[in-house]
Amino acid sequence: MTVPDRYAVIGNPVAHSRSPAIHQRFAEQFGDTISYERILAPLAEFAATLDRFRAAGGLGVNVTVPFKLEAFAYASRHSARAAASGAANCLRLAANEVIGDNTDGVGLVTDLRSRLSVNLAQASVLLLGAGGASRGVLRALLDCGVARLVICNRTAARAYELCALFRDARVQACDFGQLDREQHRHFDLLINATSSSLAAADLPVPGQVFQTAQLAYDMFYSAGPTAFMTQARQAGCVRTSDGLGMLIEQAAESYAVWRGKRPQTAPVYEWLRAQLAGGL
Ligand code: ATR
Repeated sequence: MTVPDRYAVIGNPVAHSRSPAIHQRFAEQFGDTISYERILAPLAEFAATLDRFRAAGGLGVNVTVPFKLEAFAYASRHSARAAASGAANCLRLAANEVIGDNTDGVGLVTDLRSRLSVNLAQASVLLLGAGGASRGVLRALLDCGVARLVICNRTAARAYELCALFRDARVQACDFGQLDREQHRHFDLLINATSSSLAAADLPVPGQVFQTAQLAYDMFYSAGPTAFMTQARQAGCVRTSDGLGMLIEQAAESYAVWRGKRPQTAPVYEWLRAQLAGGL
């Protein structure tokens, strides 16, 4: 009997992760036999946990909160998109090297463009949050030709630091208080990359910002509308989405990094959405 190729998602917490189910659906599309497990790493033991998985023959891992920066540091080589974000959510474990990649950015822009038909070229984008989640997607948004990308964060200094890393005239920084000013009131697309929806907290975004946007997108996902989606709708935003599609697209890109072929995502999206709606 052939031993299946081994993959895993490492995080803390990780019990909620849908990645094993998503990757098994992908493998079925190609008739591949893989194993994909969840590994809970103690907070101080990311590297040791990964060492053990490698020694046991693991070929690739997805890395989730809070280890994406450590995963970047663990890698011996980086893809250009990982280097641009300083964080890795996908590692390819080869015999003599570990290649750090970041598939979050391409996951977001593919979901926006393919499933939601958003035209990012020349778009004006408000990115809420300046943590690791924002860092991971900034480069990909800029590469799509957005006209303006404003990073807004509760702690303004973090937004300015992130802005400075990109040295691009299209990128600006502000805090929530500045969203009342004329130059920061009108955006085509709002993206929530804060962890506010996890805590079901509203963000201090003025109603006018929601009313004039064509789409409010939450990188967080849940069975029902997220806190950010609910806030956006109540404020008059016409269209909202959670980040389930981004999750599936980043997984598909990871599968391609590891196995050289990109799965179909639409059927997996429909399947997982139905699972969530059914409380599974
Ligand atoms: P991640 O890697 O998931 O981005 P992080 O680095 O801890 O996690 O960043 C969390 C982000 O959510 C930050 O931008 C944080 O704002 P601060 O930098 O001011 O802490 C933001 N955030 C979390 N909860 C928030 C809330 N209730 N309101 C506004 N911003 C919030």
